[in-house]
Amino acid sequence: MSVEMKHVPVLLTETLKYLNVSRFRERDGVFVDATFGGGGHSMAILDQTGQGLRLIAIDRDRAASQRAISLSQRYGERFTLLQGNFADLSQLLDEVQVKGIDALLLDLGLSSYQLSNAPRGFSFQLDGPLDMRMDQGQESSAADIIRTGTVDQLRDIFRRFGEEPYAGSIARAIVAARSQKTITTTRELADLILSLTPPAKSHRRLHPATRVFQALRIAVNEELQALVAVLEAGLSCLNQGGRLVVISYHSLEDRIVKRMFRQWSASCSCPPDFPVCTCGKVPQVRRLTGKVVVPQVDEIERNPRSRSAKLRAVERL
Ligand SMILES: C[S@@+](CC[C@H](N)C(=O)[O-])C[C@H]1O[C@@H](n2cnc3c(N)ncnc32)[C@H](O)[C@@H]1O
Repeated sequence: MSVEMKHVPVLLTETLKYLNVSRFRERDGVFVDATFGGGGHSMAILDQTGQGLRLIAIDRDRAASQRAISLSQRYGERFTLLQGNFADLSQLLDEVQVKGIDALLLDLGLSSYQLSNAPRGFSFQLDGPLDMRMDQGQESSAADIIRTGTVDQLRDIFRRFGEEPYAGSIARAIVAARSQKTITTTRELADLILSLTPPAKSHRRLHPATRVFQALRIAVNEELQALVAVLEAGLSCLNQGGRLVVISYHSLEDRIVKRMFRQWSASCSCPPDFPVCTCGKVPQVRRLTGKVVVPQVDEIERNPRSRSAKLRAVERL
């Protein structure tokens, strides 16, 4: 069963503040929302900026175009949706003849539309095909990884992308189980993982399949490579004074963002034992969020999906 629910934008007030939206009430500019989803952040940006602000939205998911129709009707030429992977940011902007941008927003992960849609196969709580492709045009799905991965490959995926402590035993169980019957659905995989979990651990807050499902999703969509690529491309597209805001939902993503922001803002990359700086490095950004920004308790109560969100922001120098 699928329950189509509305996606509530996370950390909306904080996002608008760090994107410096109020600066664009009067002046022209170009913003990129590279994770359009349900368009919640895009709509708020367009509502709070003037006629001279153009917003380019990007999403890998082909279903996003349906949700973009109402924005096109409401905002006309101020709004454009591009279907594609944000890893290809520079090429996507070339397509619409945009050179420099004033803001880039990345609200990573999945929208409620994707999570609550059983046929997309992202949720272990709904029964559906083991798909997990964000871009429905992509060839390989989670079922392909589960069908063809060796024990070593599966263990590596569960460990690296899910930090799953039982990665080895789950990988071995999958390979043993599929010799009897192909695993094709989310329910089959979730039940198999549950059957390996000692009863004392199966009632914990985190469902035993959570980490494996996260790992598979990251592997299918090559999410961490895409994140590194869009951060690098974003830095080179941002105009001076332009803002980059990233909302991440798990530690693998947040670590990448934190590390890259730290490197970009550093004024020296010499080894720590050098007596004087010889690298001549110039900082490329100023960090706007010394401490990571997280949702307030009332936001988490209103929207439990926001509970793991972490926002970091920089300004291009
Ligand atoms: C959390 S949702 C964004 C929700 C949106 N901010 C809103 O308020 O409605 C993340 C979206 O980013 C998209 N996405 C994730 N990785 C992507 C990538 N590499 N390229 C383009 N879109 C991506 C997903 O398909 C999903 O629709």
